[in-house]
Amino acid sequence: MCGIVGFIGKEEAAPILLDGLSRLEYRGYDSAGLAIYDGKLGLQVVKAKGRLKVLSDLTQDGATVHGTVGLGHTRWATHGEPSDVNSHPQVSENGRFAVVHNGIIENYVEIKEFLQHKGVTFVSQTDTEVVAQLLEYYYDGDILNAVSKVLHRINGAYAFGIVCADCPDKLVAVRKDSPLILGHGDGFQLLASDVTAVIKYTREVSYLDDGEVAVLTQEGAQVYDAYLQPVEKERHHVDWEISAAEKGGYEHFMAKEIMEQPEAFRKTVFPRIKEGRVVLDDLCFDAGYLKNLDKLYIIACGSSYHVGMAAKYNLEKLLRKPVEVALASEFRYCDPIVTEKTLALVISQSGETIDTLAAMREAKRLGARVLSVVNVVGSTIARESDDVIYTWAGPEIAVATTKAYSTQLAVTYLIGLYFADLMGTIEKKEYDAIISELLLIPTKLESILERRQAIQYYASIYFNHPSIFFIGRNIDYAIGMEGSLKLKEISYIHSEAYAAGELKHGTISLIEPGTLVVALASYQPLFEKLMSNVVEVKSRGADVLGLATDAKGAEMAKTVDHTITVPDTHPMLLPSLDVVPLQLFAYYVALQRGCDIDKPRNLAKSVTVE
Ligand code: F6R
Repeated sequence: MCGIVGFIGKEEAAPILLDGLSRLEYRGYDSAGLAIYDGKLGLQVVKAKGRLKVLSDLTQDGATVHGTVGLGHTRWATHGEPSDVNSHPQVSENGRFAVVHNGIIENYVEIKEFLQHKGVTFVSQTDTEVVAQLLEYYYDGDILNAVSKVLHRINGAYAFGIVCADCPDKLVAVRKDSPLILGHGDGFQLLASDVTAVIKYTREVSYLDDGEVAVLTQEGAQVYDAYLQPVEKERHHVDWEISAAEKGGYEHFMAKEIMEQPEAFRKTVFPRIKEGRVVLDDLCFDAGYLKNLDKLYIIACGSSYHVGMAAKYNLEKLLRKPVEVALASEFRYCDPIVTEKTLALVISQSGETIDTLAAMREAKRLGARVLSVVNVVGSTIARESDDVIYTWAGPEIAVATTKAYSTQLAVTYLIGLYFADLMGTIEKKEYDAIISELLLIPTKLESILERRQAIQYYASIYFNHPSIFFIGRNIDYAIGMEGSLKLKEISYIHSEAYAAGELKHGTISLIEPGTLVVALASYQPLFEKLMSNVVEVKSRGADVLGLATDAKGAEMAKTVDHTITVPDTHPMLLPSLDVVPLQLFAYYVALQRGCDIDKPRNLAKSVTVE
């Protein structure tokens, strides 16, 4: 949802800003822009509709724009269609202020009308332009005062970068409900939506908190609270390599991230299993608290929600406690039943999804304790939770999640085992069996990935189907949801996931000769029942691509058109294996269709608007 980056130092800012934007483009790619100040040239603003490449070409990779302080932006349009004029930076009428923004100013219409009555002329349809104009309106020679007055006037979510032609030795950063980090270097400072944009230049970062304002100069950064009182910020050292956020020879980030899953799973799980037991050093839950829980409320969006759907089956089995799974965007508005005895399990790759963050805050307000499962270290959800378990998946760049989903799943297994052990709801034999299977998952994932050519072949047969159904029962249904989302978001094929037993209650009317049904039959206790549903769709002319474990593959192959198999494992761990062929299928279908796999239309990663 829009990426912002800022630089102040001694070097030319434009190439650094463009490089930063190239790493943030996953956050939005409707348009991009730069505002750079130079003593002789003044404030130069270049922006263009389209991918970052258009801006790079326009500025000859930054060579035509000069100055050592500036801002960059890559946009996912909210207010105002993608166009040159609606691109950021937005500039005040007299060209004094340039602003880049990630978020939404909810009361922008009222402010715009107010300023228009004062004679201000607006050129864009964006909510951001009101901020640039309002800064100018309040400006009395002191930029911090103007910023403070603007912040008192606006409502909504925002991360801003602000440059003022009157004080080009400063760059201002502001944050509320949208992510913003500072990068600290020797003789330069950076601001960015995400660490990936600064890691090439510095590993020393600090995370702005809501309501904070930072003033960056070449020498350093001073952070203030909402009352403009100085605040000391803790600095963090980022220890992952820049190569983790690069394609490393793959055609797409998504392909690379799919292939990284065995390693990501190892990194997330193995250090947390010691002498055959799950050890979650970061947590301190006791049996009494857990036994007293009235329920677990899983809160998440999109694929993270699908992790929650799979986790529900496992956690209820392991803990014998009710588990409710809520879409974060609905949670706040359904008068949720949450008490002090509720544990909210919040799942988010980015740790910044605004719906999830808002739902988490509501759960806390209602008395729940919050345990989050987050990938991005230092993100808002991680910092605001009572407890956090990081998925150590490394940076995920492709918009469609793969390795983050897999590591989130892995963490839900660990939580389930850890809690069940504490509560005494699992027998030792079963516990040991799951642990030994858990340790085999990475090798089994490798064997699935080695067989990816077969999936590419099925994709080449089915890539033209206009509509694809995923059916499954129990945990297979939860996996089908993720398979369906992966397919539709990157290939633009209409697809739905159904609980197979529900077909006959309506959906089966959609099945006609040639409809593709992906039938998930890995959950062996319900294999026969699922196969009955397969026969039902087959007899109505559907083509069926089946997915089963090795043990049942041959049996399934007798009925379906093609079969994909995955190694057998403990039923609880099936999602980890099943999801990979579905990710690969979506990837190869999208490849065949010539889709922009890493940046699907209309989407962005890290959804920081409601
Ligand atoms: C789909 C996808 C999204 C995210 C969702 C939540 O491939 O990536 O559905 O899962 O936007 O994002 P996080 O996990 O960052 O809260």
